[in-house]
Amino acid sequence: MTAMVKAEGVHKSFGPVQVLKGIDLEVAPREVFCLIGPSGSGKSTFLRCINHLEKVNSGRLYVDGELVGYRQKGDKLYELKDREVAEKRRDIGMVFQRFNLFPHMTALENVIEAPVQVKRESKAVARERAQKLLDRVGLADKAANYPSQLSGGQQQRVAIARALAMEPKLMLFDEPTSALDPELVGDVLDVMRGLAEDGMTMIVVTHEMGFAREVGDSVVFMDDGVVVESGHPREVLTNPRHERTKSFLSKVL
Ligand SMILES: Nc1ncnc2c1ncn2[C@@H]1O[C@H](COP(=O)(O)OP(=O)(O)O)[C@@H](O)[C@H]1O
Ligand SMILES: [Mg+2]
Repeated sequence: MTAMVKAEGVHKSFGPVQVLKGIDLEVAPREVFCLIGPSGSGKSTFLRCINHLEKVNSGRLYVDGELVGYRQKGDKLYELKDREVAEKRRDIGMVFQRFNLFPHMTALENVIEAPVQVKRESKAVARERAQKLLDRVGLADKAANYPSQLSGGQQQRVAIARALAMEPKLMLFDEPTSALDPELVGDVLDVMRGLAEDGMTMIVVTHEMGFAREVGDSVVFMDDGVVVESGHPREVLTNPRHERTKSFLSKVL
């Protein structure tokens, strides 16, 4: 079976600063893959490399069997054109800590924007799907609301619906609940749990250890640009083998 994401020796530096120091990992189709680790360990950078928002310095990344950002001819790599990169990026949904909704558009308009503008879908088709997606994230009655009229948790759920509207084969979540008031976190996690149950492949950077334990198929602990430990959530979270993992978990649990 082709991995949905495969990283081989991925290195990334910003100037003299090495941020990713050789990441090897595999995410299977339908897997919920939780990435944990202290601030600055390179989690966001790694996610950004997966859709070529950042270029790796060495090593390789594959999404669904295809090399990210490059085409290989013989033993040479040629960087893809912006248009080709953009096309592949459509298959990958991304949800950030900050929801980044368009403030001048309603929830529904936010969700149909990319399908209509990028995929040239008809508004009628896009609207119908958007309604279903808003229903799925529990916001059927908020379609006409502007982001400023929604709570942070509701905005984040619109952001998830917006990402799903492009029918991605992979979803990347970068601390999707970190900016939310505690009482709003649960609704967002419930939506993510539903997506997992429906078989979406997800990489989730999170500090929500309960979610990682209950929903995650695997947990990877990253520190200082390397994968320190990975495995089944039960092993990694309740029975960590490495000191660095233990020390991190004692601070977040
Ligand atoms: N565009 C950038 N330019 C320079 N340094 C960066 C850039 N993006 C991230 N970094 C640095 O890379 C390191 C890892 O950052 P990041 O991937 O955001 O970590 P995490 O998401 O685990 O907190 C940090 O030291 C950060 O300052
Ligand atoms: Mg981050």
